[in-house]
Amino acid sequence: MKTPADDDLLMRDRKAEHIRLALEERNQFDARAFSAWTFDHEALPDCDFDDIDVTTTFLGKPLRAPLLISCMTGGTEVATRINRHLAEAAQARGVALGVGSQRKAIEDPSLAATFQVRDVAPDVPVLANLGAIQLNYGYGVAECRRAVDMIRADALALHLNPLQEAIQPEGQCRFAGLLPKMREVAAALPVPVIAKEVGSGLSEATGRRLVDAGIRILDTAGVGGTSWARIEAQRSGDVAVGELFAGWGIPTPDSIRQLRRIDGVTIVGSGGLRSGLDLAKTIALGADLGGMAQPFLEGALESAERVVARIDAVVHALKITMFCLGAKSLPQLRSVPIRKESMR
Ligand code: FNR
Repeated sequence: MKTPADDDLLMRDRKAEHIRLALEERNQFDARAFSAWTFDHEALPDCDFDDIDVTTTFLGKPLRAPLLISCMTGGTEVATRINRHLAEAAQARGVALGVGSQRKAIEDPSLAATFQVRDVAPDVPVLANLGAIQLNYGYGVAECRRAVDMIRADALALHLNPLQEAIQPEGQCRFAGLLPKMREVAAALPVPVIAKEVGSGLSEATGRRLVDAGIRILDTAGVGGTSWARIEAQRSGDVAVGELFAGWGIPTPDSIRQLRRIDGVTIVGSGGLRSGLDLAKTIALGADLGGMAQPFLEGALESAERVVARIDAVVHALKITMFCLGAKSLPQLRSVPIRKESMR
């Protein structure tokens, strides 16, 4: 029989395996989701490169670029290192940051420190994270509040991951009746709740249900980047099911466009963004900011400097794109035409 200690070990191992598998190229779905979308070049931009302004605000705090380092990890020694490097870099460059699912630390408070980054990221938005599914497995407002308080977060991201849970060997699949519980959490917490997927996207219809439940920040985490179907299928040994569902869901550009039809929401476009050009497309398609997870993982294992270098490369390419579109600010970028090339 499995003991709580076994469960603990399994969960620690799972996180280590997730990091290892997420770094393998074959577990990225397909980076072409954004390349189908193009801009019209502006040969005569009416601005200077140095005038390009990519600042914005998120969760009431200023950002120096419209970028979120998406939720990834916590709970282990390696994860501590990753979180601290990500947080130092986020603070240095004025971008937002999420931590991975804090379930482990709710169950074992001695692990809280592996998620705590406020000391190195005092000024930027920091997101707490839990699986929404936990609300059907005994969690309620109290646990959500603890996750927020644990890291002094500016918001709580609740992730929706039915595909991952369905393929994961130890998956929790009782999703029925989740929405009213998410509504209760959104109403009770002192900070906003964000609903995010983990790589299969949010549709307009799902977005509207979430908004009706009082959740006003939606993160697409669409198809195109890290494939949890592939990762969990490798862990379960059923590679065929991973391939069958690797492309399941809504490609990120489509998910952004669908959510944009909903009034009054803040949209984080994420899932497969790999460059500042992708980030520019994300904004032009209608997102308020872009999120990237996997591209920061390898650098974060090593140093904050490597994460900073990656952020700088992304922001530089975002500015080049805006310059070559004659878009001086993010609101201007949002109104630039972007079109989908028909496949040749
Ligand atoms: C993730 N992601 C994730 N999301 C979440 O809400 N809670 C979590 O604990 C994790 N854990 C996690 C671990 C690792 C190693 C990766 C790479 C990702 C999902 C992540 O936030 C994001 O939504 C997807 O990875 C899609 O973005 P990318 O990776 O394609 O940029």
